[in-house]
Amino acid sequence: MGDLHAALKASILEGIPKHVPPKVALDPTVDHAPDRPAPLSAQQRRLALENALRYLPASHHDVVAEEFLQELDRYGRIIMHRYRPTAVPMKAYPLDAYPAKTPHAAAIMLMIMNNLDPAVAQFPHELITYGGNGSVFQNWAQYRLAMRYLAVMTDEQCLPMYSGHPLGLFPSSPSGPRVVVTNGMVIPNHSSPEDFALMNALGVTQYGQMTAGSYMYIGPQGIVHGTTITLLNAARLHLGLDPEQDLSGVTFVTSGLGGMSGAQAKAAVITGAACLICEVNPHAAHKRHEQGWLSEVHDDLDVAIDRLVASRDAGVGVSIGYVGNIVDVWERLIERKVNIDLGSDQTSLHNPFGGGYCPVGRPYAEAMALMAEDPDTFREEIQSTLVRHADAIDVMSERGMYFWDYGNAFLLEASRAGANLDDGNGGFRYPSYVEDIMGPMCFDFGFGPYRWVCTSGADEDLVATDRIAAEVIQSMLDDAPETIRQQLLDNLRWIEAADGHNMAVGSRARILYADAVGRTAIATEMNRAVRDGRLQGPVVLGRDHHDVSGTDSPYRETANIRDGSSFTADMAVQNVLGDAFRGATWVSIHNGGGVGWGEVMNGGFGLLLDGSDDAERRAQSMLQWDVENGVARRAWARNPGAIDAISRAMDRQSDLEVTLPTLVDADILDRMMEGME
Ligand SMILES: NC(=O)c1ccc[n+]([C@@H]2O[C@H](COP(=O)([O-])OP(=O)(O)OC[C@H]3O[C@@H](n4cnc5c(N)ncnc54)[C@H](O)[C@@H]3O)[C@@H](O)[C@H]2O)c1
Repeated sequence: MGDLHAALKASILEGIPKHVPPKVALDPTVDHAPDRPAPLSAQQRRLALENALRYLPASHHDVVAEEFLQELDRYGRIIMHRYRPTAVPMKAYPLDAYPAKTPHAAAIMLMIMNNLDPAVAQFPHELITYGGNGSVFQNWAQYRLAMRYLAVMTDEQCLPMYSGHPLGLFPSSPSGPRVVVTNGMVIPNHSSPEDFALMNALGVTQYGQMTAGSYMYIGPQGIVHGTTITLLNAARLHLGLDPEQDLSGVTFVTSGLGGMSGAQAKAAVITGAACLICEVNPHAAHKRHEQGWLSEVHDDLDVAIDRLVASRDAGVGVSIGYVGNIVDVWERLIERKVNIDLGSDQTSLHNPFGGGYCPVGRPYAEAMALMAEDPDTFREEIQSTLVRHADAIDVMSERGMYFWDYGNAFLLEASRAGANLDDGNGGFRYPSYVEDIMGPMCFDFGFGPYRWVCTSGADEDLVATDRIAAEVIQSMLDDAPETIRQQLLDNLRWIEAADGHNMAVGSRARILYADAVGRTAIATEMNRAVRDGRLQGPVVLGRDHHDVSGTDSPYRETANIRDGSSFTADMAVQNVLGDAFRGATWVSIHNGGGVGWGEVMNGGFGLLLDGSDDAERRAQSMLQWDVENGVARRAWARNPGAIDAISRAMDRQSDLEVTLPTLVDADILDRMMEGME
């Protein structure tokens, strides 16, 4: 262990190496991002190369320039594969293994390495954590520089990160964040996918997804809890299941076994549903199977459908993988007249023409080659596939299936491709899962995907933190109002069973939906447990950006904001600014994430609980704001659950005073509008 930690320290402190590292071939043991063409003129190619070489000493330039140009032509950007550090395995190490002058910086290094751990990341050597293009850095020089800065920074410095580029260490104050991350911030009129492709190729911006570019991804577990909540409530709302019932005998068909979509397989089994989940990339399907997230995997579609029907009839909770295209699955189900209860989709349609969605009739490798060689044909095939996909969903829905958009821009991209999904009122015929489930049932009440990472890496610490969280929820149940009681019960059941589901990949991390009261109480108790030695090491707190307050996204997180403000982004910006001066260890704000570049603004934070009084004060101040500013905005949009939640918050806190909406009698509005429509 000593040698390993010494090598870790030396590797981080090396920064940009003095001598050019040896050339490396692509490692066949990990999955690699598909090639994609760089949309650059000769002048822009030159600029991209000049931009990349500025990270390196002049003595390297002659040696690597040609190779960098080859990378640019093949991958659409310069990744600098040769500079990927290989001295120690890429993974989260215990906090004290890092070279650091402040544990806050060590915690950030831990989270960065966890986000690039091959067990966690989708394309680790291309610095992509999930979602096809969710990047931690644009290139390996940025990684090396950022890690060295973190190793030498003090509590009086701040590291601003511009889309993966570390700007340097700047004097700051101990109360401010150590790192401020921005990803993909652009002038609003320059936020099209084409703008992104150009700027990313030039090496000046990146797509940080929701949590990749803010170092807060914890593997697909991060989304399992939310997916479980969605499945349970979809069945309760649309199939009439009682809250006590599980989903045995219920069928669920969907696609995607990638970074987050893989969570669907696990959540289906947890709820007891019979689930058929289709994945076109064999590597992704087998990875989830080997990790135990997928119960079984098949290449024969009829065998997979037979297994689905048998599992439904036997009432068995199972996830049945099929390696192929989801459109084939839906069309075969129609042919065979197999009706399905619940349906969704989690292909990466936030990135439809960059490899996130595979055209029907082509195996994965062939489709990715087509994308690189003939992007126009690829685009046409994607669009016709999307229309077929939507048509099949229509037929299944007419036969009784409840379908929802899973926040992957399926409805948006299918409608852009020409599918008729109009509801006649300017909206889509199918809901986004946030519109009728997550929004009104969770986010409006302040419940969102809180998470923590035990920096000791010890299993016992994860078990102990689960116990602390369960005790907090249990005590909240004593006097919980009816409006949130069922959620608390679901969340208690989740956290009590979490360890048994064996979900931690990479760091010892946990996700738990909680509201402002729960998040604050859990953080306070965990910090005390660090202080008195009940935990072996500090805890990093964070959350998915997919939350109450952090994200303005009209097609997802703010899909149930109906006062016309869902295309504004004040909340996401206010949220991150407020977190920064209330005590976050690091903060982040991203353009894009989830539903795509230009479609969403999302932000988040990380906070180290080191057992100190200062950490307790920071947690209490920051978490209250981090949740309740979004609840207040949702209340202002007249969402009833949020009005209830923020009113209760004002009763608890005398120094909280929120502007509440006056509800207008519909008769007055109707009378005023008479004859005007
Ligand atoms: N449900 C949620 O709560 C939630 C939250 C955040 C994001 N998302 C969105 O869900 C999408 C998936 O996220 P991810 O991290 O899993 O992405 P991912 O790229 O890791 O996984 C998507 C998978 O879909 C597969 N796929 C693509 N086209 C296919 C096709 N035609 N048939 C079958 N499989 C196909 C890909 O091979 C890939 O493995 C993204 O758009 C993401 O933004 C969902």
